[in-house]
Order: sequence, then structure tokens, then C-alpha cells
Amino acid sequence: MRLIPTKSMKPGMKLAKTIYNDHGRVLLSEGVPVTARMISRLQQLHVTFVYIEDSRTKDIHVPNMISDKVRKKAITTITDTFKQLEKEDTISKWFVMDQSSKKLKNLINHLLSDMKSNDEVSSLLTDVYVHDNYVFTHSLNVTLYALSIGLKLGLSQNDLEILGLGGILHDIGKMQIPAEILFKPGKLSSEEYTEMKKHTTYGYDILRNMHTIPLLVAHCAYQHHERLNGSGYPRGVKAPDIHLFGKILAVADVFDAVTSHRIYRSAMLPHEGLEILYAGSDTLFEPSIIEAFRKSVAIYPFGLTVTLNDGRKGLVVGQNKDLTERPIIRIIEEEGTEIEEPYDINLKDYLDVGIVDCDIKNHMSAVS
Ligand SMILES: [Fe+2]
Repeated sequence: MRLIPTKSMKPGMKLAKTIYNDHGRVLLSEGVPVTARMISRLQQLHVTFVYIEDSRTKDIHVPNMISDKVRKKAITTITDTFKQLEKEDTISKWFVMDQSSKKLKNLINHLLSDMKSNDEVSSLLTDVYVHDNYVFTHSLNVTLYALSIGLKLGLSQNDLEILGLGGILHDIGKMQIPAEILFKPGKLSSEEYTEMKKHTTYGYDILRNMHTIPLLVAHCAYQHHERLNGSGYPRGVKAPDIHLFGKILAVADVFDAVTSHRIYRSAMLPHEGLEILYAGSDTLFEPSIIEAFRKSVAIYPFGLTVTLNDGRKGLVVGQNKDLTERPIIRIIEEEGTEIEEPYDINLKDYLDVGIVDCDIKNHMSAVS
């Protein structure tokens, strides 16, 4: 399979991965030749990238961070919890949360066991899911990223459970933000931005009163927009006053925000998202957390077309644990000419060979 920008799709190409909505309903099936109409539908849905079938990489298996079944269950549980909390008054909220916290803890243990049993470096390219409310998908993605970091840092099971709950509930305060601000397709005015920033405090207030939720989870909601140099919100506290989990969630949150598509902009590729994090290393984000994150996600996702510094072109077909910036490449083009017999090189073994470009030109023209 090959990953291409949706705008580069041509009628007749076949999707290599079925595209689902959040509730597991099939929107477009794999293996079916796409029509011009389907392509424009994908663009309307703001899907930035798609996987298409490619005869040269048929043998490649792409591991998912979690199974589709667990993902579907996770989105349902998160959606139910958030929606119930949105409707009820304060007393009912506590009651709902008591019921939900057991389900959420159960879910986190499911996610953790799925992640632990999958020992490969995996991708979380969420464009195969089209969602009607980004908050739910975002909550799940942030949880998965935060748990991957937590696992890399060797946190205890108990800490991972709290961090996971913090991930799922970090944006719960957004349920109190008016929909016209939350889903505004475009830049927020300064008044709207001031209101949006309050979701941290709203979340803290909802969670700190719930006795079945550890207080640290409330602090995750409170602190995930704080930054090491004090430039974050709501309080502008600095590094020593930000809990480790707040720092982990900051990294996970920003990465998912820039690598997911939203109504108003396209998604960045993982390595571009990582550059954003590195640009803020030590000023905004904790360097050791960015490092742990770099080791746990596929920076160059499977199927991406890359150009090497010696001019060869190829597709990413495998990952190296802890060395995710040097994946395995199937060479398909040498000196500008497609070769008849593609072959694999593992960049881990050729340290003088590196990736210099990756379909960015296509991607950039897709964005403009
Ligand atoms: Fe947030």
C-alpha cells in the first residue's frame, strides 16, 4: 500500500484501507476503484491522506497501535461519557461519572494490553477515520500517545491508569464551550480564544469534585496547556510546577492537534509534527518526553514515498524500534527512472544514507 495526498488521487485507484466513521460505519471500502465523485467526497470530508493499493508493496503488513475493535469500543465509551456529562446538572454529573469511571478504567486496561502485545513501532494515521466530533477522537489519540510515552518512560501500571484517564478526560471542559466557538471553521477572535482557554479550568472544576476520579486526573485537565517557560495557560506556571503527566499530555496534545485534519486545515505528516515539538524543546516541552515519544511512533509512516540523499526514491515498508527516523525503504526509483525489481534497504545499516524529502511537494500543493 502507498500513502498519498487525497488531492493526488486519480479515478480508478483502489483504497488499501477502508475508511470508517467514528461509529465503525464503512464510508468507503478498500479494493473498490474510486470515482471522481468519491474523491471529491473525501476532500469534502477533509481527509488529507489516503492509503491506495500498490502492487510493489502488497506483502507489507501495517501494524495498528490498537485493533479496530478496541478503537470502536473506545470511541463509544468516550462519546457516551462526554455526552452524558454535557446534559446533566452537577449532582447528576457526579453520579454519571461514578458509573463511567469504572468503564473508563476498564477501557484503559484494554488499550494498554493491546499496546503491550503489539511490540512493533506503529502508526496512528487517523485519516482512515472520519469523525463528526473531533473532541472524542482527539481524546483517544492523546491517550494513546500519552500511554506510549508512559510505557517508554517505564511508569508503573497504576501511574499509567491515571495518565490514561487524564488523557481521556483532559478536554472534558470543552463540553462547556459554546459549539459555535468549539467548531468554528477558522481563526478564533481574541474574545473567543479567551473563552476557549477556559476549558482547562472548567475541566478541573468538573473532575476535582468526583471522588472516583483521582485528583491528579483533574490536574491533567488543568495543566495540559501549560508550557515549561510559563507561556501556557490558564495559570502560566513554569516547569517545576507542572506535573510530569501535564508535560506528557502537552506533547501528546500538540502532536495530535497538528497531525489530525480539522475543518479549517489539512493534517501534517508525523515527521512535520515532530519538528514542531523539537522547535519547542526545553522552552515549551520537556526534551526527555519528546525523545520518548520519538522512539514510540512511526515518524515516517508505512507507505510514505521518500527521496534519499543519493537521489533514490522508495516507499517506507518497515520500522526500526527506537530508531524510527531510519525506517526500511523499498527502492522503486533510481536516477529518476522506475526500476523493474524493487529492493529493500534498512537505513539503520546505512548511516550515510538519509531521507531528504517525502512527497512534501505533493502534500504542499495539496494544501494550497
Ligand atoms: Fe485542551
